[in-house]
Amino acid sequence: MNEDLHRALNEHLTLEFAAAHHYLALSIWFELNDLPGFASWMKQQSQDELGHAQRIIDHLLERDLEVTLPAIESPPTSWPSTVEAVQSVMQSEQRVTRSIDRLQEKATRTGDRAASLMLDWFVAEQVEEENAVRALLGRLRLAGDSSLGLLIVDQEMAKGSIPGAMEEPEP
Ligand SMILES: [Fe+2]
Ligand SMILES: [Fe+2]
Repeated sequence: MNEDLHRALNEHLTLEFAAAHHYLALSIWFELNDLPGFASWMKQQSQDELGHAQRIIDHLLERDLEVTLPAIESPPTSWPSTVEAVQSVMQSEQRVTRSIDRLQEKATRTGDRAASLMLDWFVAEQVEEENAVRALLGRLRLAGDSSLGLLIVDQEMAKGSIPGAMEEPEP
């Protein structure tokens, strides 16, 4: 594997682990704020992010390449509002998408078909994830300032009728 691509894949691990931490912090905050549906959705997303990091680690190991685990910054413990909390997730997912696109570009440029194939899964996954967060923001916009609306969205998330937490695209 090209050295620059190898380094970039290792660096991308920071984003996946940071996303896992961010979702877990949100899950804790929602649990403390009596929104168990949001909390369990965020917890599932956190576990999915760990799975993403593991996919990259496995790919590097299968090719007998070194893996450097990053230090992860402590995420916030609270957010000004539910909408802002979910917006912070959207920003983080968009940052991950940009990083995946850059990785795919490097893999293609260096003719690394194996890395490119592995990254294709992530390209599709990011479309799913951004779509799930966008759907959630849409429901929150409809709920507006209504506590009852927020409780309904929370129930939808507990049931899995907001996409995201329940499904992962096939490997
Ligand atoms: Fe991810
Ligand atoms: Fe994600």
